[in-house]
Amino acid sequence: MPIDFYNKLNKAKDVYTFRDFILLPGLSKIEPEDVILTSNFSTDIKLNVPLVSSPMDTVTESEMAISMAREGGLGIIHRNMSIDKQVEEVKKVKRAESFIIKNLVTASPDLLISEATKIMSKHNVSGLPIVKNKKLIGLLTKRDVKFSDDINSQVSNLMTKTVVTASESVSIDEAKRIMHKNRVEKLPVINKVNELIGLITVKDIYSREKYSLASRDDEGRLLVGASISPFDFKRAKALDDYVDVLVSDVAHFHNENILKAANKISKEISSNFVVGNLGTEASVEDVIHRIDKFDGIRAGVGSGSICITSEVTKAGSPTLFAVSQIASKLQEHNLSKPIIADGGIQSSGDAALAFAIGASSVMMGNVFAGCNESPGNLIKIGGKYYKQYRGMGSDSARAQNYIIDRYSKKGKTIAEGVEGVVPSRGNISELIKDFVGGLQASFGYAGAKDIKTLWHTSSLGQITGVGSDELKPHNIILPGEDKY
Ligand code: XMP
Repeated sequence: MPIDFYNKLNKAKDVYTFRDFILLPGLSKIEPEDVILTSNFSTDIKLNVPLVSSPMDTVTESEMAISMAREGGLGIIHRNMSIDKQVEEVKKVKRAESFIIKNLVTASPDLLISEATKIMSKHNVSGLPIVKNKKLIGLLTKRDVKFSDDINSQVSNLMTKTVVTASESVSIDEAKRIMHKNRVEKLPVINKVNELIGLITVKDIYSREKYSLASRDDEGRLLVGASISPFDFKRAKALDDYVDVLVSDVAHFHNENILKAANKISKEISSNFVVGNLGTEASVEDVIHRIDKFDGIRAGVGSGSICITSEVTKAGSPTLFAVSQIASKLQEHNLSKPIIADGGIQSSGDAALAFAIGASSVMMGNVFAGCNESPGNLIKIGGKYYKQYRGMGSDSARAQNYIIDRYSKKGKTIAEGVEGVVPSRGNISELIKDFVGGLQASFGYAGAKDIKTLWHTSSLGQITGVGSDELKPHNIILPGEDKY
């Protein structure tokens, strides 16, 4: 059978990226502040703010993940570290806050004050419930031991013996009332036979009120994701007990070996499982038939701001195109799996386009890398502040060895990412506020009250390369620019 080389070129698909399109204004019956952005990241993870920080070692560790979740988004802890370290980073997020803290650090009444002080410092807690035969018999706080001159006396001599407690079924409002009435900052929770079940702290209650949009699990703990290689079964199992969602982290998921390995993982974990990255309709078809259970799809190949994949290999599926392909294939199968638009998103406008074309959330590396909460220090260059940002396929990231299989089973020899710096962007909360404001304004123009309405009602306009200049500020000298 002859190969039709000419038509391969002549009938090539139009593959678009963010800067090729614009969202057309539509009849609006809502004001931007009424737009609701709540959406699913995966089957069981619903976000009030559908923004997600990339699993990259210059973007997401526990500090970023805690802040992302408090603001209503989600952070995916990167995997360029040992399994133990990644599990510890996940645990830090889960421990950051909760309504009733379980797995408490406790002490027995015959322990010495000096030993109890050491336990408090080691576990970074400001108080210890004192327990005998599982029953709560007292409470010792840092304040109690601070001015004690007898560090060799037993805990039972210094602890508060009449402790205000709450029952297992206590509600948040009730707990607040009890703590306020009794002027206490810690409220142990006990069952009917006085056994210690957990602890409520005033700090966690305030945090719930302050971060009202936060992404939380049923126990009030912050939600967190972690990335894995589909080949690293051991890592997936180690994280599964703690994490809310495991996210596949390979550049080209549509690969025989990866599909087999990921299917094995999907059957043996209880967390949600997000596959990716994918970029074509054919890849979705194979995932549907070959992966037993998946809860979301990361879409986009080679569009990231630090990617040189498309340059080095001339292979790729730009994020906007990838989302459209995946969304139409899922629809054909009547499947509603959330799509995560990943790579190349620079602004709230880009994110709005991704939502219009079928995404349920957007994942960003570059946008978040400059924030105070990303790993690494500020770097001063020429009087301005920057932070390091690097692709996980860059030479320096691959030198750690953990990420080597992101690009193939054994690790390619060629780099597919670059490293550099991005401008410092301050705290994540301000950035997210601006991003949400921008998104709400986009939805307002499009006349959509939420993401699902935008899928149905929005229409796009295509921009020519020449015309795109008119859509930016022009014929004006902006501060800091010297050209007209
Ligand atoms: P942005 O544009 O937000 O993209 O910086 C972040 C996404 O890019 C992917 N990623 C890479 N892709 N080479 C690539 O081809 C790399 O070295 C690399 N590192 C990250 C990843 O999907 C991330 O979320």
